Amino acid sequence: MNYPFQIKSLEDYKKQYQKSVEFPEQFWAEIAETFTWKKKWDKVLEWNFTQPSIKWFQGGTLNITENCIDRHLETNGNTPAIIWESNNPDENNRVLTYKELHFKVVQFANVLKNNGVNKGDRVCLYMGMIPELAIAALACARIGAIHSIIFGGFSAQAIADRLDDAKAEFIITCDGAYRGVKDIPLKSVIDAAISGNKTIKKVIVCTRTNTTVNMTIDRDVWWDDEIKKIETLGNPDCPAVEMDAEDILFILYTSGSTGKPKGVVHTVAGYMIWANYTFVNVFQYQQGQIHFCTADIGWITGHSYIMYGPLSAGATSLMFEGVPTWPDAGRFWEIVEKYKVDILYTAPTAIRSLMGFGLEYVNGKNLSSLKVLGSVGEPINIEAWNWYNQNIGKGNCPIVDTWWQTETGGIMISNLADVTPSKPSYATLPLPGIQPCLVDENGIEIEGNGVNGNLCIKFPWPGIIRTTYNDHERCRLTYFSTYENKYFTGDGCLRNESGEYKITGRVDDVLNVSGHRIGTAEVENAINMHEGVIESAVVGYPHDIKGQGIYAYVIYNSSDGDLNLSKLDIIQTVSRMIGPIAKPDKIQFVPNLPKTRSGKIMRRILRKIAEGDTSNLGDTSTLLDPSLVDIIISESI
Ligand code: WT7
Repeated sequence: MNYPFQIKSLEDYKKQYQKSVEFPEQFWAEIAETFTWKKKWDKVLEWNFTQPSIKWFQGGTLNITENCIDRHLETNGNTPAIIWESNNPDENNRVLTYKELHFKVVQFANVLKNNGVNKGDRVCLYMGMIPELAIAALACARIGAIHSIIFGGFSAQAIADRLDDAKAEFIITCDGAYRGVKDIPLKSVIDAAISGNKTIKKVIVCTRTNTTVNMTIDRDVWWDDEIKKIETLGNPDCPAVEMDAEDILFILYTSGSTGKPKGVVHTVAGYMIWANYTFVNVFQYQQGQIHFCTADIGWITGHSYIMYGPLSAGATSLMFEGVPTWPDAGRFWEIVEKYKVDILYTAPTAIRSLMGFGLEYVNGKNLSSLKVLGSVGEPINIEAWNWYNQNIGKGNCPIVDTWWQTETGGIMISNLADVTPSKPSYATLPLPGIQPCLVDENGIEIEGNGVNGNLCIKFPWPGIIRTTYNDHERCRLTYFSTYENKYFTGDGCLRNESGEYKITGRVDDVLNVSGHRIGTAEVENAINMHEGVIESAVVGYPHDIKGQGIYAYVIYNSSDGDLNLSKLDIIQTVSRMIGPIAKPDKIQFVPNLPKTRSGKIMRRILRKIAEGDTSNLGDTSTLLDPSLVDIIISESI
């Protein structure tokens, strides 16, 4: 496959960018032409940010799996689409060519149909990182069912909330999943999540760990048995269902500043084009290269840069089941050497953690195949950038620092590998189609360079969030109401004298722990479920490896008992309500929380104390009880 709209030089970038701003409809129409449509669109773009209502390629119909699979069959049928590397280095890998992927997706799409799944139905995928996860997602897309993938680390309660919100009727899961030394019992977590649930019609269980599971008659079926049923029918095709450009492709839940995660909705055509365009341009992918994105498919990074971006480009996507530090901290480098990986896309938290193990795990590994390195999920600190550049890229690989969000569908601000300049700790320049702006607290746009503000986007791009599932008003309130006529990202940002962007972090009550988004309110709700807890306040603090750690201030009802045990109990409660990723790193019991007279918790003060910076707490005179602050400081951890 060739990529006619791959940007080739800095001048070309400037030209394309300019065109995307001046003639957005023409710009995107030309790109959209290169995809496979069942019916061409009538109108490229119709939008307003007030409702919001954003429609790309209206009237057009297509199926994303024809673009991700079928169209490659003739010329690239024998090219590996997915290379899968097991958690266990001794287990054989698996390679699925585009032909084989086609066969399996069609087959499983028929399994879904056979089990009563129809176009528009919500199917929840709670699986480990095995090819069947991608196969299941693509099979949903093939028949027009909406997938909602839930990361394997979420708890039964978190799954139950998401199932309920999405009104999902089908679940695809595994008996268990391997992650490092752990064996996570996915099916039994699902059982707990749906005990008492009356709306789930079918649970399809794929075997991975051979863990014993309970199967409920009539509801639970085995993946392999269902495949056998299809096989007895010969090899039936499963034509790709004709989807409207704006039909929902998937829902992906993400945390915000309220207690309840939101179901971010992406639609077929715009998301596909954006994932593809950004993949091809940011990483400068060349046909035949091996692309290794280390994310989990349970997060947006895996959706866009393990599945839809690479596959729509006919690329070879390497999918890794394990973790970077098991059996040892050389696992990534071993994989790079084994498959001669060209592009490595990972997170700063992984880099920092591997840095800590020292160079002995890197030395001796042949990393000379690497051409491009990528970073995603949080700001990359200079130390990590330098280490990545020197020891992994050997000073020869551009590092693309890619800023984006679940809501944006794909990369928004990033340098393009070897095409536009990189700058450590800067995401640098917006992709064509992206019109960023910085605004002050009053919503006034801050023009010019060398300025700081809240990052907004002024114009829609094809991958923009369309709604939050089942609650459009929430989408409007969260993203489109803070600043009139702008999409608000929730991030603070600096634009330097040369017009390059540096993301400075969230300006709302959202934490970024190891590149994962966690709402402080969500963690507080979970902590408050513990019977001894009266009230809590959660803030972030700088953490060497995770980027941010979770610091919880808790008012606890304890007349006696072991307080350390109580802390463990609280941590377990959070694990049970959300999942291990949301466990507080530090818990401080406090007599009270610093509140204003109107009862508002002064988080600014709590944040300062958690950061260990109590030299300037700002104005504390509005506090109901200023003396409380000294007590909290003296007992801080
Ligand atoms: C938030 C989005 C994007 C996929 C993974 C996370 C932060 C993301 C960067 C970056 C600085 C970054 C932002 C953003 N973020 N990438 N390159 N530099 N910050 O997706 O869970 O939706 O989180 O992650 O704060 O708002 P997400």
